[in-house]
Amino acid sequence: PCAGQHHREEAERIMTTTPVIDGHNDLPWQLLKKFNNQLGLPEANLTTLNGTHTNIPKLRRGHVGGQFWSAYVPCDTQNKDAVKRTLEQIDVVHRMCELYPETFSCVVDSNGIQQAFQNKKVASLIGVEGGHSIDSSLGVLRTFYRLGVRYMTLTHSCNTPWADNWLVDTEDEQPQHYGLSSFGKTVLVEMNRLGMIVDLAHVSVDTMKVVLKLSKAPVIFSHSSAYSLCQHRRNVPDEVLSIVASTGSLVMVNFYNDYVTCGDTAMLANVADHMDHVKKVAGAQSVGFGGDYDGVTRLPTNLEDVSTYPALVAELLARNWTEAEVKMALAENLLRVFRKVEEVKNSMQGMAAQETPIAFEELEGSCRTSYGYTNGASTIQHLPVALALALALLRSLLS
Ligand SMILES: *[C@@H]1O[C@H](CO)[C@@H](O)[C@H](O)[C@H]1NC(C)=O
Ligand SMILES: *[C@@H]1O[C@H](CO)[C@@H](O)[C@H](O)[C@H]1NC(C)=O
Ligand SMILES: *[C@@H]1O[C@H](CO)[C@@H](O)[C@H](O)[C@H]1NC(C)=O
Ligand SMILES: [Zn+2]
Repeated sequence: PCAGQHHREEAERIMTTTPVIDGHNDLPWQLLKKFNNQLGLPEANLTTLNGTHTNIPKLRRGHVGGQFWSAYVPCDTQNKDAVKRTLEQIDVVHRMCELYPETFSCVVDSNGIQQAFQNKKVASLIGVEGGHSIDSSLGVLRTFYRLGVRYMTLTHSCNTPWADNWLVDTEDEQPQHYGLSSFGKTVLVEMNRLGMIVDLAHVSVDTMKVVLKLSKAPVIFSHSSAYSLCQHRRNVPDEVLSIVASTGSLVMVNFYNDYVTCGDTAMLANVADHMDHVKKVAGAQSVGFGGDYDGVTRLPTNLEDVSTYPALVAELLARNWTEAEVKMALAENLLRVFRKVEEVKNSMQGMAAQETPIAFEELEGSCRTSYGYTNGASTIQHLPVALALALALLRSLLS
């Protein structure tokens, strides 16, 4: 117990100067579900908010210094109102920063994170969770970047018209692209050019591999654990961990019981096992924290909410992680990846924006107009979309 207390004090001391930057928190989703994003409701006050894993006092106790807030909208919005709902989740993060300026500082680059550390604010960044949120549009992707989005998870738990998700590895979904389609590769180039971090949580193993091969910048897994410790397809297999190491990429370990032990229950030590494993296979420069708080229903004993990061850090110290290794996992690895992404952006400034749209026949959904695709052919312009689609298909069959 004395040794335990000592590690706890060490953890707090380290985190006072190097707080944790967590890869994924779904508080914005809770704000939508509980309050329909009405932050002014008395019960939505983030200082007293209860029934969630996250509130302001818990963030403070947990020494959270950086958070990628998830602009998550479920897969059933795909080809429906995904873009509108994603915009609303981006908006609610901006309003959190405006309403609680003494706590949150919305930032968009690595320098901003360090500035927030110095000012003892929670650097707040936005990650869009799922490529369905851009509705297969490079214009929407760029607009999200301008609104402050700094990572996009290429899929949630559904294929998009251009990337396969992890459910193809469980055979619950059919593979469509075996990684990325041609348009998916264009999305990747555009993310590199914009300086938006590519997130591979939720994608299929083929998608992981093709992106790790093609991306000019390192990538993150914002909330994924180690497959060799729990054979859940949301986790990262060892063969991919090796590529994570060789590309300078990062796995931010998820705390969700189902990904940690493949069971309903888990302990803090089980999460430390995942961090140890990623460190062993890919090195300390590849480990991070991606708690998935407020996005999951079951969390390990002693990791129940965002106030508990210091307990996990104490456990890593007890396992002989050096102070330098702990600091890397807490913040420095993410900052390194982010700076590299910014460098790649700068090196691509001479390149024009990607403009090649997705092929019309690759779009899904029945409520679309076809503006832009009809290329001035007035005969097609006013036909219903279904007919335009049939003609496009016919053309592709004949060509
Ligand atoms: C949770 O918050 C609500 C609304 O602010 C309050 O009425 C309730 O007493 C709180 N519950 C606990 C356990 O603190
Ligand atoms: C939240 O509640 C605290 C006191 O409990 C109060 O000082 C603060 O003004 C409230 N903030 C908002 C945005 O309502
Ligand atoms: C940590 O290092 C100490 C001192 O070298 C050693 O006694 C202990 O067994 C190590 N603990 C672990 C978990 O490796
Ligand atoms: Zn997720």
